[in-house]
Amino acid sequence: MPEPDVQSLIERASAEMQAGRADAAERLYRDVLARDPEHAVALHFLGLCLVQTGRASEGLAYLARSIALLPGKAKPRHNYGVALLQAGDLAAAERELLEAIRLEPENAASHHYLGMVRQRLGRLAEAAIAYRAALERAPDDPAVTSNLGFCLLEQGDVEGAQAWLRRSIAREPRNAVAHNNLGSALSAGGDAAGAIASFRSAVELAPTYALAWYNLALALRRTGDYDGAFGALRSAVQHGPDFAPAWQALADELAHAEFDAWDPRAAEDFTQILRHPAVDAAPLARAAAALLVLDPAFGSAFRGLVSGGAPAGVWSDAARLQALAHPLLLALIEDAVVPDPEFELFLRALRRGALESWQAGTLQGSPPAVGLLCALAQQCFLDEYVWPESADEAAVVERLVARVGAGASAAEVALLAACRPIAAYRGMRRPFDAGAAFARMWRRQVEEPSEEARLRPEIPVIGAIEDATSRAVQAQYERNPYPRWHRLPQTHVGAYPLGRALRALFPHVDPGRLRVPEAPRILAAGCGSGFQVAVTASRNRSGQVLAVDLSRTSLAYAMRRCRELGLANVRFAQADILALGSLGERFDWIECGGVLHHMRDPLAGWRVLCTLLAPGGVMKVALYSEIARRGVVAARELVAREGLVPDLAGIRAARQLILAQPIGSAAREALLTADFWTASGARDLVMHVEEHRYTTTELATMIDALGLEFLGFEFDVPETPNQYRVEHPDDPGGRSLANWGAFEARHPHAFARMYQFWVRKPD
Ligand SMILES: C[S@@+](CC[C@H](N)C(=O)[O-])C[C@H]1O[C@@H](n2cnc3c(N)ncnc32)[C@H](O)[C@@H]1O
Repeated sequence: MPEPDVQSLIERASAEMQAGRADAAERLYRDVLARDPEHAVALHFLGLCLVQTGRASEGLAYLARSIALLPGKAKPRHNYGVALLQAGDLAAAERELLEAIRLEPENAASHHYLGMVRQRLGRLAEAAIAYRAALERAPDDPAVTSNLGFCLLEQGDVEGAQAWLRRSIAREPRNAVAHNNLGSALSAGGDAAGAIASFRSAVELAPTYALAWYNLALALRRTGDYDGAFGALRSAVQHGPDFAPAWQALADELAHAEFDAWDPRAAEDFTQILRHPAVDAAPLARAAAALLVLDPAFGSAFRGLVSGGAPAGVWSDAARLQALAHPLLLALIEDAVVPDPEFELFLRALRRGALESWQAGTLQGSPPAVGLLCALAQQCFLDEYVWPESADEAAVVERLVARVGAGASAAEVALLAACRPIAAYRGMRRPFDAGAAFARMWRRQVEEPSEEARLRPEIPVIGAIEDATSRAVQAQYERNPYPRWHRLPQTHVGAYPLGRALRALFPHVDPGRLRVPEAPRILAAGCGSGFQVAVTASRNRSGQVLAVDLSRTSLAYAMRRCRELGLANVRFAQADILALGSLGERFDWIECGGVLHHMRDPLAGWRVLCTLLAPGGVMKVALYSEIARRGVVAARELVAREGLVPDLAGIRAARQLILAQPIGSAAREALLTADFWTASGARDLVMHVEEHRYTTTELATMIDALGLEFLGFEFDVPETPNQYRVEHPDDPGGRSLANWGAFEARHPHAFARMYQFWVRKPD
């Protein structure tokens, strides 16, 4: 049989592609190239085949070769641009699509994809222009109208978004994506019922659409339907196992779960969430610990230790060790501080037992023992060695230090890391082949601190720190940076620009007053160790953030984390807010959370920030509430009466003092905060060098004095604003501080996390 010619091979390959048989098409294109290595069409379609089957870099290389052989042709440029978009190389995708448009200006699809590229780049206004150009050429194309709608939503134009999305659905009623996007636009406009109906339509049309399930869950939660929300989240993670925001939301739901019996399925959920690198597991810790003790074998070993059983025996008893090295315990204590007094007693006993066992020469180096020691060491590193240490324990640690200096086993290094920050011991060598848990511990406890030490000198300084209180506050945070955070939770899908966030937060404010530039200039004043900065910078990739703080230790931590997260849009500098007046820059958005109330004269600091805010700019401020903080103030006073020095020993003693208070006493409210469970947090909570607290009346006076407009409070959970609306139906926007004062008097814990609110500078 004669060999088929190249042209018929190409035709067959194209037919295979169209039939969805990429494997067969790939073989045929490769046959063509075996005969003619420079066959531009075969190179091009082989490239597309490879990109579509997940081999992006190989495919893009073929596409690039084909483009060089097909100059002046629009379609290949277009395909190449789309492939680059799919591969995430947005800058190159934009270049190719612009070239395709130059060659064939009337191709609507190229304009459409250009819009998508720019939307992903966060250049929303340019994206909208591209979508409109596509619609001029293909009026009412439902995919384009849907994307334009979503783009307008991201810009904060909720009404425009709804109009375009409805148009898209009218043309193509079965487009699940458009229904989902309309749900988001309705939700942003405050129409909860409409949003839920749209999300439901989306999941009915596409039952495996994880994002729509997730959005449905959030909308249901906002209306108080927790069971419905939980079910929708389960569907979201089932259909989108890699979809981090859904896992995060599930974690937030499970944080409130209560169990009366051991539940292996829930334990698996907990373990999976705790191990997920993009989920902040901290809120889950209490519930996970409560579930864990219901496991019969673990529970019995746990109770044995808590009730004073000899702890050393655990470490030489293989069965008990096996029960204790429970996958859920290892996941839990490696990544989340457990905020529970009994659990802390248990972990302390476990550590004491390991020290005694090492002293007696019976500490094992078996995998369960090393795994448990590494997890314990991670817990101690996270809580900054805040548990008390007896003189006997300290003596054993001294001997361990001497041993570790001379080279030690993985179990010994991990045990030391459960008692002291090991990065301080220079010359310590990493034991060879000590396993994955040890490698993670070494990374966090040795490599990351040394990276921060390298970054410290790079941090520029703005102005001088002259104020005595600023200096004292600086000294505190150099030793005890805040907050202690590790993972950045993904609570939104993709970008969540400020314009959109503000519309969702304050649907009752005239949208014209919530306009924010597309690439906002952002100042994070008193950024601490950078958690909020990372959230802001990741949600607003086109914004430019300047993050300042007094503490270089905090800034170095923030810098390392932002670099690891690929957040190139943040600059850091050491500065006192009081010295920022000389800054020649103006900002569209300033955030200053938990900072001003640590200044000698908070209003003076706030005034400086106001001068830096552009007209029409917005500011998010968080200040302590006098009422919500009553329990913590009782704890502060208790500690102050003892005259404790705020070093590690003093912080440990302060915590023990509070833990020893009778159940039900006000000071024990401190235990309900996450801060109580780490050394830096506890110092910030009850031993701060400077702290002011406010009432809503005082807030109103200050906001007035600064000539700012109060936009409203922000809450982490919807219960409080929902309740407020029930009790104050005359103020649906929640903008009356007098009403809020009355509300807080009735609900003294409403602002437990502080007054977090937004203000705006008039144009
Ligand atoms: C409780 S932490 C809050 C950190 C961060 N804003 C957050 O919400 O997680 C307070 C931070 O404010 C910083 N700070 C306090 N007074 C300041 C001042 N005058 N200028 C700059 N930063 C200040 C401290 O150094 C500390 O890092």
